[in-house]
Amino acid sequence: MDRIALVGGGLIGQAWAIVFGRAGYEVRLFDADPAVLEQARRNIAARLDDLASLGLLEDGADALDRVRYAATLGEALASADYVQESTPERVEVKRALFEELDRFAAPDAILASSTSGIPASSFTEGLAGRQRCLVAHPINPPFVTPLVEICPAPWTDSAVVDRTHALMLAVGQAPIRLRREIQGFVANRMQGALIGAALRMVKDGVVDAEDIDVAIRHGIGLRWSFMGPFETIDLNAPGGIADYLRRYGQLYQAIEHELATPLDWSDEALIAKVEGQRRARLRAPRLGERSVWRDRRLMALAAHKRRAADDFGE
Ligand SMILES: NC(=O)c1ccc[n+]([C@@H]2O[C@H](COP(=O)([O-])OP(=O)(O)OC[C@H]3O[C@@H](n4cnc5c(N)ncnc54)[C@H](O)[C@@H]3O)[C@@H](O)[C@H]2O)c1
Repeated sequence: MDRIALVGGGLIGQAWAIVFGRAGYEVRLFDADPAVLEQARRNIAARLDDLASLGLLEDGADALDRVRYAATLGEALASADYVQESTPERVEVKRALFEELDRFAAPDAILASSTSGIPASSFTEGLAGRQRCLVAHPINPPFVTPLVEICPAPWTDSAVVDRTHALMLAVGQAPIRLRREIQGFVANRMQGALIGAALRMVKDGVVDAEDIDVAIRHGIGLRWSFMGPFETIDLNAPGGIADYLRRYGQLYQAIEHELATPLDWSDEALIAKVEGQRRARLRAPRLGERSVWRDRRLMALAAHKRRAADDFGE
């Protein structure tokens, strides 16, 4: 698979263009709005410059030339082996688009969606080629955050899952496979648990939003950039994970009981409270600027992680 069609050229479509382009793949990017493609061209060039300045682009110096912009969906799909859809997170948009993708893409092309949480079964069921459809969910921005969650529908062909997994490895991503569809996939389920716990504490006045961010930024988040929660607890008791769970399991169990009533995520008073606390620290007009700053920090972290690549061995 070396020809990639990207459908939807917003934030995620642009980031995928960088991932595939720098790995040597021919990319055709299409967006329903031509103005988006103009902006995409500028953004992709700027992010590639940032990556190059941090030494993260040795093999992808001509990535910019490999990303082409298609005027029509048909032009993007022509001879594509792999299609990555990144259009708005609405099931009716995905359903209509996947019908077109299934009709016009080459018969053996894989059709993958970037959806953050809509299972592939809810927009591919009626398609003749539904066995070639699946979710390949990235984390923003995928050119420095390599996790890709591959989640098949019940009818996805296992060879399609294998080929998508192999493609993601080939372009330098870190794919994981889900064995069945589950809301929010893996990463957003864990992120949801954390954000939910944080919102409850702010709602109840235990701490402010900034205290939560300090607890992660200067506390438990530091190790999460190079190890997961299971390895973390495996190292936090002398006898490893079983010892940890026996020592601290009751504490977590008590917290779970406390959280038994679902949080109301649409509580406007709570939304206003966290919005007020965040805007006091970062004014709305500077959100975009801060996102660029975040991407550069992530690039520096990726460069550091590459230099310090697993030197432990086992
Ligand atoms: N933003 C994130 O952090 C993030 C992370 C992972 C996955 N995702 C998922 O990626 C997808 C895209 O998200 P985004 O943040 O890039 O959104 P976005 O709004 O930045 O981009 C969506 C683009 O799709 C285009 N579009 C709409 N209908 C189209 C069509 N029929 N054909 C072609 N283009 C069309 C729009 O013009 C727009 O440019 C969503 O499913 C989202 O859940 C987003």
